[in-house]
Amino acid sequence: MPAAPTPESHARVDADTTLSTDPLWWRQAVVYQIYPRSFADSNGDGLGDIKGVTSRADYLAGLGVDAVWLSPFYPSELADGGYDVADYRNVDPRLGTLDDFDEMIAALHGRGIRVIVDIVPNHTSRMHPWFQEALAAGRGSAARERYIFREGTGPDGSQPPTDWTSTFGGAAWEQVEDGQWYYHFFAREQPDLNWDHPDVREDFLTTLRFWSDRGVDGFRIDVAHGLAKDLSEPLPSQAELDAMPMDGHHRIFDRDEVQDIYATWREVFNSYDPPRTAVAEAWVNPDRVPRYANPNSLGQSFNFDLLEADFNADQFRTIITDNLELASSSGSSSTWVLSNHDVVRHATRYGLPDAVRTHGPRPDKPVGQDWLLTGGTQPELHREQGLRRARAATMLMLALPGSSYIYQGEELGLHEVAEIPADQRQDPTFFRTNQKEIGRDGCRVPLPWVHDAANFGFGGPAHLPQPSWFADSAVDVESAREDSTLSLYRRALHLRRTLQGAEEMEWVDDSIEAPYSDQVLHLRRPGGWDVITNFSTEPIPFDTSTAILTSEPLTDGVLPGETTIWCAPRS
Ligand code: BGC
Repeated sequence: MPAAPTPESHARVDADTTLSTDPLWWRQAVVYQIYPRSFADSNGDGLGDIKGVTSRADYLAGLGVDAVWLSPFYPSELADGGYDVADYRNVDPRLGTLDDFDEMIAALHGRGIRVIVDIVPNHTSRMHPWFQEALAAGRGSAARERYIFREGTGPDGSQPPTDWTSTFGGAAWEQVEDGQWYYHFFAREQPDLNWDHPDVREDFLTTLRFWSDRGVDGFRIDVAHGLAKDLSEPLPSQAELDAMPMDGHHRIFDRDEVQDIYATWREVFNSYDPPRTAVAEAWVNPDRVPRYANPNSLGQSFNFDLLEADFNADQFRTIITDNLELASSSGSSSTWVLSNHDVVRHATRYGLPDAVRTHGPRPDKPVGQDWLLTGGTQPELHREQGLRRARAATMLMLALPGSSYIYQGEELGLHEVAEIPADQRQDPTFFRTNQKEIGRDGCRVPLPWVHDAANFGFGGPAHLPQPSWFADSAVDVESAREDSTLSLYRRALHLRRTLQGAEEMEWVDDSIEAPYSDQVLHLRRPGGWDVITNFSTEPIPFDTSTAILTSEPLTDGVLPGETTIWCAPRS
């Protein structure tokens, strides 16, 4: 195991590692998601920034990740955590400059870490110059054509064009001063773009080239299934929209012709060496995932099934089998995700009763959020059990063929932060639902780096308040402890590199006897890397003599409950 980097260590841009030349590096990569405003704050203003990422390049290299994915760092009024972009080809001045960005890429590339950035093409910020121009230019103007403006209904047009609702709550139409209305699937500060407009198509190609030219290796495409829309009259009602099958002809989502857009993006990706990669955030029916994941489209698509699963052997087995089949049918590799910036952290989800944990497959209904609903009776959270299960699930995930996307702070075993006062919350969901839905702030609280430093070494006073219990999970505390979740992630990620072979696995069904067999998953990767997860709470008899890593301490001849073990032939 490499020496643990200290949180204070700063990046050396002239680092000695270089990037692999493998154009298929992404197929089995571990990608670490950075939510930049909450990662590390270099200038003490309370917002994480680009230099903050650079200052932790050694931490990321020591962790053993292959790539980082940066959530939006672009200029934004932060109506939706940066997913409201005012300028796609710049850095938010509060987060730094383009020079800082170049320096960050050099620092990460110098350590063999690729960089993926988030592209948000479904909507801009209302502060984007195009939208400001559209407001000023008035009804019927060419500038309004880049967005979705309509006249209102009712005798004086004072009612919205339809009864459509925004996914963050409230109406999906907002009226402007001259009386017209514009469509926003998300917050009112996020007007949807009109992807039939040639300017829109051209501008995003320019953006993809801009970041690719700066050395960005890939893109995460936000709401990738939402760009193409059929808004011909008459428009359906919300009930009619909800009832429409997602079969390529839905008026708003996953329309067949969205692929024409990605075909032109693919030309840009493939004009670079190595080709730039992309991963789609596409909430579509499973049979349509290959449309996004195939090499002529975006190339890879998120599989969010584990976000919605209980800690349950049957569910994990089905999800793993189905997604590996789905990925191979499109020539892609599967992705695996247990946590991200939109859902309740998995250590917390697994500590909640099953009925509370799961929620529909929608980004607007973050998984496990019911736990936090204001005004309700809160079910008990079993923190230790949640973390124990999270460690076991993570070790299982990291052993699967395909790429794993991990979210900042999960390597510390962080729980969701519930105790954020209403006046400090930021998620538009909270406000647009009149505080009925709590939103996603609880997984976006700035990271704890040093247990006894001001703001836990994050930088200035954190823009979302850090709870006192963050001290126990600070990077310095966990670095010093062999049994910490951070030490487990470091060992797992480094071992994974040595064990990883072909993108294959098989289930081993005869190693565990009844009555335990239905609560245990045993899979084998090429080369004899065996991975066994005991989903039950009870220890089971198991030969642990070839164990190389376990999510909990072992006792001889027994696999403890809620534990994953990696075994491999010892050379
Ligand atoms: C992102 C969210 C964001 C939304 C609107 C999502 O899918 O992951 O964080 O609020 O897109 O851009």
